[in-house]
Amino acid sequence: MIRRVRNLYRIAFVVMVVAGAAIVNYSPGAKAQAASAGADKKDGLQAMYATAAEVAEGKRIAQATCVRCHGLDGISTAKGVPHLAGQRPAYLYLELRAYQSGARGKKVMDGAVEFLSDDALVKVAAYYASLDPAQPFAARGAKPVPDPVQAGKAAAAACAACHGEGGISKTPGMPSLVALEPKYLVTAMKGYKSGQRKHDLMKSLLAAVSDADMNNIALYYALQTPARAQTPAAGNQAAGKTAAVACGGCHGNQGVSANPAFPSLAGQDAQYLATALQAYKNGSRRDEAMKGLAAALNDRVMKDMAAFYAAQPPQPLNIRRPLTTAEWAQKCDRCHGANGNSVDPFMPALAGQRMEYLVKVLHDYRTRVHQSSAMAAMSDALTEGDIENLAAYYARQKARTVVFVPVPGK
Ligand code: HEC
Ligand code: HEC
Ligand code: HEC
Ligand code: HEC
Repeated sequence: MIRRVRNLYRIAFVVMVVAGAAIVNYSPGAKAQAASAGADKKDGLQAMYATAAEVAEGKRIAQATCVRCHGLDGISTAKGVPHLAGQRPAYLYLELRAYQSGARGKKVMDGAVEFLSDDALVKVAAYYASLDPAQPFAARGAKPVPDPVQAGKAAAAACAACHGEGGISKTPGMPSLVALEPKYLVTAMKGYKSGQRKHDLMKSLLAAVSDADMNNIALYYALQTPARAQTPAAGNQAAGKTAAVACGGCHGNQGVSANPAFPSLAGQDAQYLATALQAYKNGSRRDEAMKGLAAALNDRVMKDMAAFYAAQPPQPLNIRRPLTTAEWAQKCDRCHGANGNSVDPFMPALAGQRMEYLVKVLHDYRTRVHQSSAMAAMSDALTEGDIENLAAYYARQKARTVVFVPVPGK
């Protein structure tokens, strides 16, 4: 790990943040930056100790081999090509090695690094690292992808009149939407919209609601604190409980289902439950499993079962609120530095990088085209919206050059 390398070299780093003119003492352990670039740390550090002559040599190599894509200033003008200027030197060197070995795909750089010596890679990395970084990119037209829970809340504003605040019904006949699996709610909404589940009112209400908003609405309701519908229940709970034994296999003994395909019934509005059973029985709501079961039930038993389920406490779902972009960025900054300005020579800076490149690379980690154990887990946890938002966020941050100065240690 980096600490060992430092001991090996008997150095501590003083990091001078040039743009901010701040001096940061970068001693091991002072910063929670976890470097994980692998075995070649020792080699990677060479690019940091390059002399002026070596950097000049790196410039000549860049001129001969890299300019047509990266420019001599390391500031990309082409889609898909990352900025290199001011990027952390050890990181650049190790990525060049990764391209050379094919670990980052064979063709991306058109064979540009294939025949360069290790020494040349060190120098060209040192050269690009020594340059002033790109100015932050004015993320043109990049509209932030809205937070799914906030978007769901907004889209569900119109539903509260019937389904109650937070999806807890106050109106007999109107189902609660809280404590229902998003998968079930989305299927129900799509069923109404397509006409597969017949209900003219719900069909017209959902006609203009997009699939994305249905997902957001379902997520919003799934995250609300559940409570029983605040509606009366006419039937006999005790009789209902006995009759409901046959239903527990799918809906749970207390009406809390363990399978997203089977809706929970606990705390649901009783009148809605009884109506639903009628609808299955008379065929106006189609479902093979429920049709057969409801056929055997008379009105009284339906009411009793409905009363039993309505009295059961609904349970919160095992679903976590997704992180906001700001919360994600906090996690990323732990490794990539404040606002994506890494102070670790092995850790890429993200600040000021091209947005579309950041998006591409995050996808590459996710599909394992670009392999990194640290980033594989991270990228798996990101949604498309998170990727767009984080890329736009880091592209907007001001990139700061960092000069790593080796100082004698004990
Ligand atoms: C044919 C155009 C082309 C040439 C020539 C080229 N590159 Fe690249 N370079 C790219 C592209 C495209 C990417 C992004 C590839 C990807 O997504 O993995 C890239 C990525 C990189 C990266 C990874 C940056 C990061 O942030 O991870 C480094 C380092 C790099 N190039 C250095 C060089 C150097 C040094 C040279 C010259 C020796 C060079 N490239 C020549 C097109 C080129
Ligand atoms: C005017 C009243 C009204 C409004 C407004 C309304 N609904 Fe409904 N909703 C109903 C009724 C009545 C039912 C029961 C329909 C049935 O029997 O299938 C229902 C059923 C549902 C169901 C099925 C519940 C289940 O347990 O299967 C979902 C999901 C749903 N509505 C979502 C919504 C959403 C989302 C909105 C807002 C975009 C909305 N509703 C607005 C009256 C309304
Ligand atoms: C084989 C599994 C299975 C069993 C057993 C079962 N159900 Fe269902 N139930 C389902 C499925 C699947 C649905 C959703 C169907 C749909 O999308 O309309 C459902 C839906 C319902 C609904 C509508 C819920 C809503 O929110 O709209 C009610 C009410 C219901 N079941 C009651 C019962 C009762 C009462 C019994 C026992 C007599 C029972 N179910 C037994 C599978 C089952
Ligand atoms: C545990 C430390 C760690 C965390 C946390 C982390 N990263 Fe990384 N990240 C790395 C490492 C190590 C690399 C270099 C991997 C490689 O060699 O390809 C990297 C590389 C990247 C790159 C490629 C940069 C380039 O120039 O090609 C991007 C983009 C990136 N990370 C974004 C993120 C985002 C966004 C987050 C937060 C969601 C994040 N990272 C969180 C360690 C981390």
